[in-house]
Amino acid sequence: SSNNLRTNNFLRHVESMRLHPSGAGHIPYLNAIILGESLATEEDDFVLPSEDFASQANVQSPEQYLKLYKRSIEDPDGFWSEIASQFYWKQRWGDKVCDENFDIRNGNIKIEWFKGGITNICYNCLDRNVEAGLGDKVAIYWEGNEPSLDATLTYSQLLDQVCQLANYLKDIGVKKGDAVIIYLPMLMELPIAMLACARIGAVHSVVFAGFSAEALTQRIIDCKPKVVITCNAVKRGPKAIHLKDIVDTAIHDSAQNGGISIDKCLVYENPSAMKKEDTKWKEGRDIWWQDVTPQYPTTCPVEWVDAEDPLFLLYTSGSTGKPKGVLHTTGGYMVYTATTFKYAFDYKPSDIYWCTADCGWITGHSYVTYGPMLNGASVVVFEGAPSYPDSGRCWDIVDKYKVTIFYTAPTLVRSLMRDGDAFVTRYSRKSLRVLGSVGEPINPSAWRWFYNVVGDSRCPISDTWWQTETGGFMITPLPGAWPQKPGSATFPFFGVQPVIVDEKGIEIEGECNGYLCIKKSWPGAFRTLYGDHERYETTYFKPFAGYYFSGDGCSRDKDGYHWLTGRVDDVINVSGHRIGTAEVESALVSHPQCAEAAVVGVEHEVKGQGIYAFVTVVDGVPYSEQLRKDLILTVRKLIGAFAAPDKIHWAPGLPKTRSGKIMRRILRKIASRQLDELGDTSTLADPSVVNQLIELADS
Ligand code: PRX
Repeated sequence: SSNNLRTNNFLRHVESMRLHPSGAGHIPYLNAIILGESLATEEDDFVLPSEDFASQANVQSPEQYLKLYKRSIEDPDGFWSEIASQFYWKQRWGDKVCDENFDIRNGNIKIEWFKGGITNICYNCLDRNVEAGLGDKVAIYWEGNEPSLDATLTYSQLLDQVCQLANYLKDIGVKKGDAVIIYLPMLMELPIAMLACARIGAVHSVVFAGFSAEALTQRIIDCKPKVVITCNAVKRGPKAIHLKDIVDTAIHDSAQNGGISIDKCLVYENPSAMKKEDTKWKEGRDIWWQDVTPQYPTTCPVEWVDAEDPLFLLYTSGSTGKPKGVLHTTGGYMVYTATTFKYAFDYKPSDIYWCTADCGWITGHSYVTYGPMLNGASVVVFEGAPSYPDSGRCWDIVDKYKVTIFYTAPTLVRSLMRDGDAFVTRYSRKSLRVLGSVGEPINPSAWRWFYNVVGDSRCPISDTWWQTETGGFMITPLPGAWPQKPGSATFPFFGVQPVIVDEKGIEIEGECNGYLCIKKSWPGAFRTLYGDHERYETTYFKPFAGYYFSGDGCSRDKDGYHWLTGRVDDVINVSGHRIGTAEVESALVSHPQCAEAAVVGVEHEVKGQGIYAFVTVVDGVPYSEQLRKDLILTVRKLIGAFAAPDKIHWAPGLPKTRSGKIMRRILRKIASRQLDELGDTSTLADPSVVNQLIELADS
């Protein structure tokens, strides 16, 4: 067929680039071989963009990609400075575009991009676009939890509101470099608050509004914000959640346990969820957003900052209990999020873009707020739940706003897939042209359903692999350029050099499976962990010296395509939310009747991974349904509902080595009931615990 021919041509092209001395031969990942006759396996399952799509795309062919990619690797300074010049810089950066030490053996890790360049990301998102004539273009289409509730903001209106809030923040003493905690649901006020902070050089730290008071407290104590911005309540589906109460507790506990005093709490009244008069109030500290911001001017001078000044802090889970404050700076992040957005989604000014992620996660930072707005895009911001009032809500929204680019997580795809095609097919979805996936590997069957049913076999899927730490996409299809393989994130973005290494940190060439690392920095890379540069180096740069270690496993197939295989550390990925097993364990053991806990991830049909907890109770405490519930409640309370264990497995003892290390490998096998694959248990201090665990598996 013509598709087979095009695929063959593509692969032949990649091959010739590899072999040709002036070609991409030095790029080790491009080890593609000419496609054979057999199309039997997953690896050989190619899906091509239509010729119509490819011919209008920003990058239309592998040749074009390779040319740009090659330049980005061979001349990163030239490549990135040309792109950066499209933004407004009050003062251009110094002579170096990038200054890095990426190799721990040569001293401390340091990454700097565009150092000396003076700019402001809020200015580039708003003022620059308004000045370019986009003032009347819709910046945000806001869709409330209830289908009847919506609002829009044009770029000029957004700029006005951002300025009013920025002026207020300045007035209460927030200065460049001060931290501001934002604990808001997906209201327009969330991106407004982020942009207002950026405008005055304050460092925002958005905390996902599904986190508990304890988790919020921990973050307040760590970053010591000048002010906390929240709202009184939010509705998720039919239920109202009183966010202000959570903030009250957190502010109280931060003072009690961390000696942090928060003098100001700015509260947005979310009238559809809760009335003003019903909101608990602390005079002097609490201020209504709607009372103060209208009193301020709609213009606010920009605080010009260095490209390397911090933009935001975002806490994420690691393999130890304490969340890590991932720090991103201004210039490189700006250039990188804007560019990745434009290419990975084949963005055009006429697009209407919707990303279902919450701004409480990195996806919402880079691809609800900054990346799209730097491109002057119209963005849908959705407050509600995708299953409310029913499972057709997403497609209702797609039709309502004529969404062209739809970006979501595999867990949502799988849950909608389970609810049946009828919820999808009763809507037109004709406007859609590009789909995106993020957060975890998308299994080929979910990919197929997303492609065939949601996208009517018409829309390429950008399966974007990246992380909180990377700031933006790292391995991603460019939708017009590649034949795709369902389930593969395909090839690296410009400037990114992924390598796969073995246990010893040796790069493996060709078809292989190992640990995914990155060689050399990219503009969007995080610069440190807030207040703990040593942990930054130890976690990411020491495991495989000379590289950034992602924590993910990855295989590369014979055509050079990358297949992410999931985390290789003690982090689990539940519905695209990253959760450290150690965090859940420490929550569980805080329960007075829990003596010890070990948590592993197990495969879960919808969530990708589920949380499976082995719990040893204090001597003499009987196993009971009540205790099981209390333990789960403890985790919800200490972390948030999304981290609640799916299963509590009573464990009279845990499998430990003689030196006391828990053997999680065995626990994972028991959790997934792969009992014939337990492997060698003879090195355990007490091998009999394994049988006890198996006996209690379904009790
Ligand atoms: O394991 C990878 C998985 O999500 C992790 C990063 O989580 P977080 O920092 O919360 O950021 C999520 C949104 C970028 C990665 O280490 N992951 C993310 N995207 C993909 C993925 N795994 C496979 N395929 C993806 N497209």
